[in-house]
Amino acid sequence: MATIIAHPLTGSGLSGTITAPGDKSVSHRSLMFGALAVGQTRISGLLEGEDVRATANAVAALGATVVRTGEGTWTVDGVGVGGLSEPEKALDLGNSGTGARLLMGLVAGHPITATFTGDASLSKRPMNRVTEPLSRMGAVFHGREGGRLPMTVTGPDLAMPIDYTSPVASAQVKSAVLLAGLNAPGVTTVREPKPSRDHTENMLRQFGADVTSRTGDGTNVVSITGQPELSPQTIVVPGDPSSAAFAVVAALILPGSDVTVCNVGLNPLRAGLFEVLRAMGGRIDVLGERLEGGEPVGDLRVRGGALKGTIAPPANAASMIDEYPVLCVAAALAEGATEMRGIEELRVKESDRIAVMVAGLRAAGVEVEEHDDGMTVHGAGGKPPAGGCSIDASHDHRIAMSFLVLGLAAAQPVEVTGAETIATSYPAFTAHLQGLGATIETR
Ligand code: S3P
Repeated sequence: MATIIAHPLTGSGLSGTITAPGDKSVSHRSLMFGALAVGQTRISGLLEGEDVRATANAVAALGATVVRTGEGTWTVDGVGVGGLSEPEKALDLGNSGTGARLLMGLVAGHPITATFTGDASLSKRPMNRVTEPLSRMGAVFHGREGGRLPMTVTGPDLAMPIDYTSPVASAQVKSAVLLAGLNAPGVTTVREPKPSRDHTENMLRQFGADVTSRTGDGTNVVSITGQPELSPQTIVVPGDPSSAAFAVVAALILPGSDVTVCNVGLNPLRAGLFEVLRAMGGRIDVLGERLEGGEPVGDLRVRGGALKGTIAPPANAASMIDEYPVLCVAAALAEGATEMRGIEELRVKESDRIAVMVAGLRAAGVEVEEHDDGMTVHGAGGKPPAGGCSIDASHDHRIAMSFLVLGLAAAQPVEVTGAETIATSYPAFTAHLQGLGATIETR
């Protein structure tokens, strides 16, 4: 078990430039959709974290040829929609909910059987949110109580297209159903209460699928026409806003900082955190905004300074769903209360992020109220929180990185145990923050 300690920053803030690592959501999808195309997909900027590597192994076990040709550059020779073969061994998706749920959708659309396993965190997470609609399409699931992994999936001879109304705004649920629908004859439709990230729709369109989206009254309706031939693509993966968020918040809360995070994906369904931080008074300038691989991308110049509390709009929760732990850290350093509600989904992430953040913030001397659907952090107006605590990462990379960022602004160091989980999404995290001037040591 790795222990990492973040020491309070002495001196005048962080400075320098880093490049955000590849987007995890887009990286998973590049490999999966490449596996379903006929011919060779070339990917650059792929995130080489453990979650995405687990997906690479899984699509290879399902019959695609996956080759790493250089740093972040990979090729996938696909087998075509309907062409996946039965894997010989269980598919181990490690810590990755996205990998497990999207691949369950893929397998459910093929007449094959596959068993899914994962680590202690993934084995606790609810899979019934995908097994329920996928069962309606004809797939059969045998898992543990409550729809937990390990779980065996058998797809039907011919999947049935469905019209599914999802109770949650979840890109994983939406994508699992659309991916099963890819190999179903006819049109499969998913309705979600609010739009969730749209990488699946955008990328499948790029690969040649017929995907339509309609948003009205806040709801989002996506349809896919099954059994297309997908053509291979050249994919440039944008930088991950969810990973960039850590350096952005670190720079904002450390007065005197001047940090640029390059190549940050700014898809509006992912970039909600930056809007909230700006509403708190955060100085974040977008430089050189451009389109890369169809996604808006920019360089974020961030300068440290005073922040004030705010209300994070529940209506925008899906656009920043992974960023609440690090928003709590910004909130702890702000003047006044920051209210984060409408985020009960956080309770079924890699950890129960509401409970784990509340307990950890209290241990670090931050005043916080827990709600069923979120939390309210009472900031101390820039006064360093006490720190001097040890936080168990709880198999959750974003918890680990958030508390290390807090440690930079605390009065005493903050230790994170189980910090090896950071390698699931951001293997260069420690090196990046050290490069900006932070003192972070691994024991
Ligand atoms: C993801 C969707 C989100 C997010 C996860 C990645 C994706 O999960 O939390 O980290 O790539 O589709 P939900 O779909 O459960 O909201």
